[in-house]
Amino acid sequence: MASDEIAVTGATGGLGGRVARLLAEHGIAHRLLVREPSRAPDLPQARVMQFGGYDDAPGMRRALDGARTLFLVSAAEDPDRVALHRSAVDAAVDAGIERIVYTSFVGAAPDATFTFARDHFHTEEHIRSCDVAHTFLRHNLYMDFVPVLCPADGVIRGPAGDGRVAAVARDDIAEVTVEVLTGTGHEGETYDVTGIEPFTLTEAAAELSRVTRRQITFQNESLEEAWESRRPSGAPEYQIEGWITTYTAIAAGDLAEVTDTVERFLDREPRRLRDWLRDNPESWRHLVHTS
Ligand SMILES: NC(=O)c1ccc[n+]([C@@H]2O[C@H](COP(=O)([O-])OP(=O)(O)OC[C@H]3O[C@@H](n4cnc5c(N)ncnc54)[C@H](OP(=O)(O)O)[C@@H]3O)[C@@H](O)[C@H]2O)c1
Repeated sequence: MASDEIAVTGATGGLGGRVARLLAEHGIAHRLLVREPSRAPDLPQARVMQFGGYDDAPGMRRALDGARTLFLVSAAEDPDRVALHRSAVDAAVDAGIERIVYTSFVGAAPDATFTFARDHFHTEEHIRSCDVAHTFLRHNLYMDFVPVLCPADGVIRGPAGDGRVAAVARDDIAEVTVEVLTGTGHEGETYDVTGIEPFTLTEAAAELSRVTRRQITFQNESLEEAWESRRPSGAPEYQIEGWITTYTAIAAGDLAEVTDTVERFLDREPRRLRDWLRDNPESWRHLVHTS
């Protein structure tokens, strides 16, 4: 018999972990699908189910057996990410899941500037083609990611120009997600989840300068410079392209749009970069001189 337990993937990670903690705080029964149970958060109301990952269809079917709702966190960067997602969705439908809430990206399209957003488009298309209710939460860039864009030398580099990004905190995304998972009337909906104050990377550097009390700058790069500076990382081309197109998507204005999703669901404004940096000093600790 189907239970009201909500199944959550990605619970060993930043977003799925936050969603699981909020469900536990609300006293909502849920099950955590994880690859490594020792890394699963230890939460009341949670059952930990081990599986081998999105390409482990039998394991996923077993772990989902009897559940109705699935929060599907997109997989880590992978050249076959769409195939992983298709496998996960098919296994979920076979297991009898009635509703999938999927983490997508703003502007998901087959020709999106940000190449990883293309994976999200194809995943959304696959979910739409299945006989399952669904809600797509299209996230903007995580605000949590902004300090990560800056290496220890204090220079954010990338071909973002003067473009703006309406970055959104993962905490806000998690709260919206729980509203969607536990609410009704979201079937077939796509919600763009964004911050409220789009900023340029020059402005982000100024905010980082303020909290770290050192000079942080943004240096615009040409495409050639961006490739040259990232090739030595040894990362595969698809991944470097994904990293670089994060910036070119900002330059193109693809990430600038502000929506009222957070306010509508949470009855308050989304967190602003300045406040978020103040409240999350561990996020920029690597930028503080210790000597
Ligand atoms: N909007 C943005 O700015 C942004 C930035 C970065 C990533 N993302 C996307 O958003 C997703 C969630 O973000 P996050 O911050 O929670 O990432 P995260 O902290 O890296 O966590 C990712 C979670 O997904 C799980 N996972 C990854 N690949 C999987 C697979 N093939 N099969 C099963 N589970 C898998 C991981 O499990 P393990 O612990 O077992 O590896 C982990 O629990 C990411 O996976 C990525 O697709 C968005």
